[in-house]
Amino acid sequence: MKILVVGAGMYVTGRHGTGEGTILASLAQASKDIQIEGVDIIARNPANSHLVEEAKDRINRRIGSDLKARYHAISSTADYLAQNPNYDAAIIVVPDHRHYEIGKAVLDNNIHCLMVKPLTPASAEAADLIKIQQKRGLYAAVEFHKRFDESNRMVKRLISDGAVGDVRYFVINYSQRIMIPLDVFREWSAKTNIFQYLGVHYVDLVYFLTGARPERVMAIGTSGVLDALGIPTCDSVHAVIQWRGGAGGDHPFITVMNIGWIDPRCTSALSDQKFTLTGSAGRMEVDQKNRGIELVKDGIGIQQVNPYFSDYLPTIDGGMEFQGYGYKSVRGFLDDVQALQAGRIRLSELDVTRPSFRQGLISTEVVEAVNISILQSSRWVDINDLS
Ligand SMILES: NC(=O)c1ccc[n+]([C@@H]2O[C@H](COP(=O)([O-])OP(=O)(O)OC[C@H]3O[C@@H](n4cnc5c(N)ncnc54)[C@H](O)[C@@H]3O)[C@@H](O)[C@H]2O)c1
Repeated sequence: MKILVVGAGMYVTGRHGTGEGTILASLAQASKDIQIEGVDIIARNPANSHLVEEAKDRINRRIGSDLKARYHAISSTADYLAQNPNYDAAIIVVPDHRHYEIGKAVLDNNIHCLMVKPLTPASAEAADLIKIQQKRGLYAAVEFHKRFDESNRMVKRLISDGAVGDVRYFVINYSQRIMIPLDVFREWSAKTNIFQYLGVHYVDLVYFLTGARPERVMAIGTSGVLDALGIPTCDSVHAVIQWRGGAGGDHPFITVMNIGWIDPRCTSALSDQKFTLTGSAGRMEVDQKNRGIELVKDGIGIQQVNPYFSDYLPTIDGGMEFQGYGYKSVRGFLDDVQALQAGRIRLSELDVTRPSFRQGLISTEVVEAVNISILQSSRWVDINDLS
């Protein structure tokens, strides 16, 4: 396979002490047992070149892979693709407000595509990408890796086994350290908001867990901390979403989401995430921060380590591999593209069983409704009223 990665930031190569990133290391791991002829990584800053080179060498050494990855500084993805259109698949890892433009350039060049979340901030953009994808018969998916997390898969099974009865409400608390808007995404954090960047994961997850559809949304933000530091965006967003159908039974159910990014730099994990699910016949508490490993170290303090997301794990025979639900999400996409190319699976099957663009539209609609509600005095926004 020949693969294009658009973007060379934190999620591709790791930055600011956030670990190894997910995309490049996942591709290196995958290259150990599927044929990847080469990976071209494109982005705008020439300074990324040595970061990509270093990351590739470090990862290859660590897991014994031989991934061939090259960085190219570009001025426009569309112009680059006009000269270099021959890729089997592309992974798009650029700031949220660039997803539409770059997704369109990739699909217009007949390349299967994996987009980091959110699919796009606006539903009209998402609908347009879906139209192109379907017209051209391409597979396009959103990298919603929480669907691959064993703990969430267990919740899904328990819900479908009737363990909590009909779903009545979720309370979701998800926040990250202030270094994310201040350092990691400094260049574009004012162009997104924390719900769009982070909350969207749990909108997709509730859809995946319950099969219900969002009907209406209201949201309010807090501000002051980031504003005072020169970043005009909400410190936190609090959204109430009403859903209908699926595991909710005959009545609508509610998710209350508290999503923030002003946690202290010294918190015990980059992401603090917990949710409670209450149903008509039971209740579940899911702690996705404290996964059971606590590391205490001078200079770092107390850290809750998540071994399940995206990291190196020793193999039982003394080797090292890159694993986790982040890896499984990227790997799943590559396997699906290969299966599609070989005629082993149909696009229509992928569209309904994967976090396809069609499914990604659902969380994008909620993101758009949240953004409208915040701007319009927290009014309720009906999903059906979005243009
Ligand atoms: N799923 C997750 O857990 C997760 C985690 C982090 C980031 N993300 C998503 O990934 C995306 C990027 O995040 P990041 O952490 O890598 O951000 P980043 O700011 O570290 O990197 C962004 C990269 O995009 C490049 N870029 C910007 N505009 C471009 C353009 N027009 N054409 C080509 N390249 C361009 C930049 O040069 C940079 O290399 C965002 O949408 C974010 O929401 C997802």
